[in-house]
Amino acid sequence: MTDLQEKAKNIIKSNSRGDFTIPCETLYPFQWNWDSAFCALGIYTYNKERALREIDSLFNGQWENGMIPQIIFHKNNTTYFPGPEIWQSNTNPPSSCISQPPVLATIIWYMMTLGLEDKTILNGYFDKLMKYHKWFVNNRDPYNKGLLSIIHPWESGRDNSPDWDSAINAIKVDDSIHLERKDNTHIDEKERPTNDDYNRYMQIVYKCKEFNWDNKKIYDEGLFNVCDPGIQFIFIRACKDLYKMAVYLHRTEYYTILENWIEHYSTNCNKLWNVHVNAYSSLNIKTGELHDCISCASMLYAYANIGGKEQRDAMIKHSKRILYATKYGFPSYDPHQKRFDSKKYWRGPVWCIINFMLSIGFASIKEVELSKKIKNNTNEIIENNGFFEYFDPYEGRGYGGENFSWTAAVYLIFKNELFV
Ligand code: GLC
Repeated sequence: MTDLQEKAKNIIKSNSRGDFTIPCETLYPFQWNWDSAFCALGIYTYNKERALREIDSLFNGQWENGMIPQIIFHKNNTTYFPGPEIWQSNTNPPSSCISQPPVLATIIWYMMTLGLEDKTILNGYFDKLMKYHKWFVNNRDPYNKGLLSIIHPWESGRDNSPDWDSAINAIKVDDSIHLERKDNTHIDEKERPTNDDYNRYMQIVYKCKEFNWDNKKIYDEGLFNVCDPGIQFIFIRACKDLYKMAVYLHRTEYYTILENWIEHYSTNCNKLWNVHVNAYSSLNIKTGELHDCISCASMLYAYANIGGKEQRDAMIKHSKRILYATKYGFPSYDPHQKRFDSKKYWRGPVWCIINFMLSIGFASIKEVELSKKIKNNTNEIIENNGFFEYFDPYEGRGYGGENFSWTAAVYLIFKNELFV
């Protein structure tokens, strides 16, 4: 193990809070859903038992209805807004009341490829994952359209992506909204979402609280309802990995339901195809409008392995154009568009976890050169700049939180020869 791999391990260890890992001490002092899943896979490369405890602690936060929350507040901490007192989940442990991209089934599948084979443990995970996926289908696609919605930008994990601009800008903010942001006291404000964005984020939360977190009502009457290609593609891929788990565990009674989900959600990706940009885009369910540009989430079509020949050819062209437009891609937004910003949160910078999914995605559709380039860029950006939350795709400089757990985890995963 090299010094940098040791450093990556030490970052994760110092962010460990017993059975779970926080993303970063200053900015994010709780357990985040997809952060924790990626960390678990990183940890699995050197400590299998601790990695499984990470997964168990995520499942400990699972709601009775199946949802695994975006944030689980296992322990008290007053340095983050909005904390448990705002969400008031009435759950034990307390949590936020929305979810995040369902990468967990894929992460567990990768653990299986790295040797996890205990059927008692895996059967337990399988049941919980099925419950989680059912929650997505029933609550984020209540009319069975084959399109999964997010009801808050935070649910996408790509909080202030331009993908949400038009839907977010349509939200009127009450004068009574009072913000107690804490993120911009730790980090340069210029790199973070604006106060206007934050007001709107909180307005969505307050509206959902008014609806008592009734997901059907929120879907119909809430302030924000957008189909995110990221969630859609990640869900399809996760269903495919769940299916492989079902086969391994001989859970034959689940084959049909998983096959149906895969088929239904893959087919309906067509509704995300934007002929004006010749690519998959996000779809505002409230207005019927497709977003007019491409973000990194569109590229996860390869990770889901969907689309016909015409769509795949167009997406590969875009992928190459975008990847080679900057030195250290993959950027989170198309650099040829005016809303691109190389330093601002999800509006341009490189995020290592996205690169991980893109790299395994392109490998799975035999685009080996793209896959390797993204992996090499990721390793190089970390080796030259450190373990930051995200990076400028031109200069490689790191921004946001330092000593960030998922960046360290991706480095350990990529340094493990089993991965592309
Ligand atoms: C930010 C990111 C989100 C991540 C969280 C913790 O909110 O947008 O994806 O899960 O930070 O790292």
